[in-house]
Amino acid sequence: PVGAPDKALAKKVTKVGIIGAGLMASQFALLFVRKLQVPVLITDLDQARVDKGVAYIHDEIGKLEAKGRLDGDAANRLRALVTGTTDKSLFADCDFVIEAVFEEVGVKQAVFGEIEKIVAEDAVLATNTSSLSVEEIGAKLAHPERLVGFHFFNPVAVMPLIEIVKTPQTTDAALSTAFVVARGLGKNAVLTADAPGFVVNRLLAKVMGEAARAVYEGTPVADVEKAFGPLGLPMGPFQLIDLVGWKVAAHVQDTMVRAFPDRFYANENFHVLAELPEVVEKDKGGRVTGFTKAAQKALAGVGSS
Ligand code: 3HC
Repeated sequence: PVGAPDKALAKKVTKVGIIGAGLMASQFALLFVRKLQVPVLITDLDQARVDKGVAYIHDEIGKLEAKGRLDGDAANRLRALVTGTTDKSLFADCDFVIEAVFEEVGVKQAVFGEIEKIVAEDAVLATNTSSLSVEEIGAKLAHPERLVGFHFFNPVAVMPLIEIVKTPQTTDAALSTAFVVARGLGKNAVLTADAPGFVVNRLLAKVMGEAARAVYEGTPVADVEKAFGPLGLPMGPFQLIDLVGWKVAAHVQDTMVRAFPDRFYANENFHVLAELPEVVEKDKGGRVTGFTKAAQKALAGVGSS
């Protein structure tokens, strides 16, 4: 079993590095500047991606200002804390570096391999992976003991939870730092073992997989969704898939099926959902890109009796 960390061991975090400037990373970048009020560097593969992430953060700060939740000075101070860059050498003095890049072990290993050479030896490294093995992500590090899982939920601003994942190598100092950072972000942290899907996605993959199975068996999407209402969940399974994004949900499902083939439905049930013409959205090349509008249409009337 995993043990509770000793908070006294936490390292003070004065500058945060974020690798990946997609929606998830941009959302938590905003949270880091708002709550920790420390400089945050955000990087990605190219300047266009970085600019998009920074623009999202600036927009969200603008919205908070417009709602009167931040005055002009505070908003400008927050904007000034965010730096987008493609130059990873600037990460040298970051003491907490978190990645949210493509959910592929090799990609994450390469990202950390590069960053490890740049940051100080005691900098804490964190991965926002949603279901991959944290130990495997750190397998190529010279110092895997400072790697933790630090898993946010969507929408980051609202969801109160962070899953902190300990590997057999993770030091108490790294773990403790992660807990103190999570608390500083105003989140409740739970410590989970490094098992596929940790806790939340393990449950969600079941829910989403069963929901897809029900559709496969002939129940309309809208009725599956409606059937969830009385359970008191804030969203039905398809709205939730819509929120986290088709690609992310499918990836989590794939990971769980690979890890536990006897416990999760083979993906055909989930992918059947993606093939439903009224649910799926495809780009011009025919690739599934999501099902926002179609799902909204399919869900129209949910809640009305
Ligand atoms: N970004 C920022 N803030 C948001 C937001 C977003 N995308 N969506 C909603 N909010 C804020 C609103 O601004 C509002 O804040 P306020 O009260 O301060 O004005 C507050 O959340 C409530 O919003 P609404 O009243 O519009 O909507 P609801 O009460 O219906 O709540 C919800 C929306 C919080 C998204 C709720 O439906 C919910 O909790 N859904 C479940 C979400 C969930 O389970 N997420 C986990 C997904 S799994 C995951 O992320 C893991 C990954 O690895 C797959």
